Amino acid sequence: MATDSIIKIKNVTFTYQDTKQPAIDHISFEIKRGTWTSIIGHNGSGKSTIIRLINGLLVPDNSDEASIEVDGEKLTDDSVWDIRNKVGIVFQNPDNQFVGATVADDVAFGLENRGVPREKMLKIVPKAINAVGMTDYTNSEPASLSGGQKQRVAIAGIIAIKPKIIILDEATSMLDPEGRNKILQIVRQMKQEYDLTVISITHDIDEASLADQVIVMNDGKLVEQGTSSEIFSQTKLLKKLGLDVPFFEQIKDELLEQGINIPSTVNSEKELINFLCQLNSSK
Ligand SMILES: Nc1ncnc2c1ncn2[C@@H]1O[C@H](COP(=O)(O)OP(=O)(O)O)[C@@H](O)[C@H]1O
Ligand SMILES: [Mg+2]
Repeated sequence: MATDSIIKIKNVTFTYQDTKQPAIDHISFEIKRGTWTSIIGHNGSGKSTIIRLINGLLVPDNSDEASIEVDGEKLTDDSVWDIRNKVGIVFQNPDNQFVGATVADDVAFGLENRGVPREKMLKIVPKAINAVGMTDYTNSEPASLSGGQKQRVAIAGIIAIKPKIIILDEATSMLDPEGRNKILQIVRQMKQEYDLTVISITHDIDEASLADQVIVMNDGKLVEQGTSSEIFSQTKLLKKLGLDVPFFEQIKDELLEQGINIPSTVNSEKELINFLCQLNSSK
């Protein structure tokens, strides 16, 4: 895996019009190419705002000192369209992201917009629809689909454009667990196949705990950044910020309170079960 940073955010501050508090307050972070990053933080902590800054929908207050770099390119008025082609975003509400009368039209829309020739489009569209398992619905009306199916079509539309980065902004939060798992499975597969970098904004702590890197936001500030085990073992911090603590970490905390020390090498539910079974059999 290449280890260069595909996203570099330096010292970015942003304030919405008619508000006093900055929604993003001097934030810096980097995201390595080919990794999965989860951004967590309570509602209003600035997660969606940072995404709008990355794709140039919003511009930092302090553009003289702040910088945003995507795939080696500095975000400027000149590079913004190029950068938007590299970053595909799936939003929370599947109903707000459809423009086509059929699934195929919808997936083709982004390509049409970019002037991709028809012959090429006719090859790319079915492939993208197939990749998300929606071939049987190619000619269906998007409105007739379930929430999970709609999100799969939204992902197909993004994949068709061949982005380097895919961002899920609470894209699974309105889905049932089955729909959610299906989406995550598809994104994992796409990540593998197209060497994508994934950023997932999520309230699903189990999903976030599978990420390579976790970024914790609070009131416009980046409060913590690390591997998922580094972040999720800080149960006090998570609780203080009003965030969920993964079930596995809760169990670890409670065992510790009972005087059972869990070695730091135990980092998953499965490892914990193994450790406890051994502990039990050695008594
Ligand atoms: N269009 C807007 N106009 C004014 N304030 C906004 C707007 N969008 C978001 N905000 C404010 O900016 C802050 C960060 O919001 P947001 O980035 O949407 O947070 P999150 O995605 O973490 O829930 C919040 O205080 C929110 O109320
Ligand atoms: Mg948001």
